[in-house]
Amino acid sequence: MHNRFRISGVDKVTFGVTGPDDAIRFATDWGLAPVASSRQDSRLFRAQDGSEIEILRADDQDPARRPIGNSSGLCEITWGVTDPAALDELAEELGRDRAVSVDAEGTLHSSDDLGIRIAFRLTRRHRLPLEPTRYNSPGHPERIDRRGARYDQACPHEISHIAIGVDDAADAAAFYLERLGFLVSDRYANRGLFLRCAPAGNHHHLFLMNGRAPGTRLNHLAFKVRDVHEVIGGGQTISAKGWETFAGPGRHAVSSACFWYFNTPLGCAWEYAADEDIVTGSWESTDFAATAHIFSEWTFGLEKSDGRLRGPISQSKETETP
Ligand SMILES: [Fe+2]
Repeated sequence: MHNRFRISGVDKVTFGVTGPDDAIRFATDWGLAPVASSRQDSRLFRAQDGSEIEILRADDQDPARRPIGNSSGLCEITWGVTDPAALDELAEELGRDRAVSVDAEGTLHSSDDLGIRIAFRLTRRHRLPLEPTRYNSPGHPERIDRRGARYDQACPHEISHIAIGVDDAADAAAFYLERLGFLVSDRYANRGLFLRCAPAGNHHHLFLMNGRAPGTRLNHLAFKVRDVHEVIGGGQTISAKGWETFAGPGRHAVSSACFWYFNTPLGCAWEYAADEDIVTGSWESTDFAATAHIFSEWTFGLEKSDGRLRGPISQSKETETP
């Protein structure tokens, strides 16, 4: 059954890093708000809607602080659920074949089939009274006698999705599809699967792709901002602060989002994303097999010398079977 556990999205991502000071500086420059953390030696940041990033010092001896596949990177993904009963149901389902524990705050901790630490909590994300961007399309003016918004700094609204490189994306997706009730929104040829946790909502919450390097490791984390202007304005500011572009700005072929990725000190890229497809149960999943090498409709500053575009897809490999 689709979304049998009423999962609403990524509530929190926990990083273990070798250099917390740089990671904290990056998260601050990114536009996230520092907030008090209830955990020792942890720094917590929040997007506008309550989505959270936690930064811990990586520690190989402590499973909760050991990033998967890298010296800095992903320690845990916390998924939000909409009601407390879902947590009990998840504990029962996952407890059938793996360790499950509940911490003092009521968050359920377990792991997926690849050993990625996953957690579930009552979502702390909330809907904001956000003024929508108004566009003046020919014949359909919506912004009258008002100048358009300008952005000197991005202020991410929410975590959109997380992308993870794995050895076999179809294999890795099985747990999410069969046990948690996720759906496949689109496929990127034989390179990866875009999964969403619920039939209606964001185009994808989890992108699993066949990593070029063996093993499991975080590829990128995307934050939704209000519009393409915030992607560009925020990206310019991050860039001016000395952080390096990984890819972009550009527009994805899959999910229609405008993007700008930056290399971070957190063992992965972070992405500003805007105007991603929002879907329902009527969405028709497409296999983008014919355009495997094209991850964007357009991108500025591309390195095309080897015929490939930079971006997450440049770090993926094809497999025989999707
Ligand atoms: Fe992305």
